[in-house]
Amino acid sequence: MVSVEHLTKRFDGGTDVLRDVSFTVDDHEVVAILGPSGTGKSTLLRCLNYLCVPTEGVITIGDARVDAANHTKAQVKALRAHSAMVFQSYNLFKNKTALENVMAAPVLVQKRDKAQAREQALALLDKVGMLDRKDYYPSKLSGGQQQRVGIARALAMEPDVLLFDEPTSALDPELVAEVLNTIRALAEERKSTMLIVTHEIHFARQVASRILFLDGGQVAGDGTPEEIIDRPQNPRIQQFLQFIQQKG
Ligand SMILES: Nc1ncnc2c1ncn2[C@@H]1O[C@H](COP(=O)(O)OP(=O)(O)OP(=O)(O)O)[C@@H](O)[C@H]1O
Ligand SMILES: [Mg+2]
Repeated sequence: MVSVEHLTKRFDGGTDVLRDVSFTVDDHEVVAILGPSGTGKSTLLRCLNYLCVPTEGVITIGDARVDAANHTKAQVKALRAHSAMVFQSYNLFKNKTALENVMAAPVLVQKRDKAQAREQALALLDKVGMLDRKDYYPSKLSGGQQQRVGIARALAMEPDVLLFDEPTSALDPELVAEVLNTIRALAEERKSTMLIVTHEIHFARQVASRILFLDGGQVAGDGTPEEIIDRPQNPRIQQFLQFIQQKG
């Protein structure tokens, strides 16, 4: 479903943030991306939908293939149509209700029928446990509630691939569980392919079928949760896990 080939990202005048990253993700696979801060995890996710334009490399999602060396707007648009991102900071439209937030992209971008988009949005809000708050504006919702609306909004695009960038790291600790439970339920459905950047090791251990460990802009570990979390061979991964456990 997803293929990343020789992906390199260099910001202007800087060093390489991603260095020759290659991996593939199968249809319906749930992959957790772990790694130290500043190691290129967000940059990697953003390259997958060209929010960030790679310096080199080829990204393929489904039938959309984009080569950084020579890409067109139409190719990028086709690539974007395959994925949806859930951000750390929710990024909801402040002047729209929960329901309007979920309906916005299907109606405005995908030009879907409004009544149908509304039905779908209501079903998705129900799925994330937010139906009773459908008419609330973001400012009247808790962080966890806003993030669940953010997840419903991503699902409304009916993406093949869901990208999560630290979806709980901006939340107060008591609100983390409700969002993780929502993501866990989605992962269990195995409907869409999911790539989740997270520092929640226990969650990654439970939910992911596979772990990618990113270090210094490179894939330093790629395996099952058992291989990467329970029996890490790489000293950098051991160090990272110890650090996270001490913190948590
Ligand atoms: N727009 C930008 N311009 C220049 N450098 C950038 C830009 N965005 C990110 N970087 C640099 O790229 C590196 C990787 O950043 P990135 O946000 O991908 O890391 P991360 O692994 O997501 O970290 P964290 O766990 O803290 O979220 C960092 O050194 C960062 O300073
Ligand atoms: Mg990040």
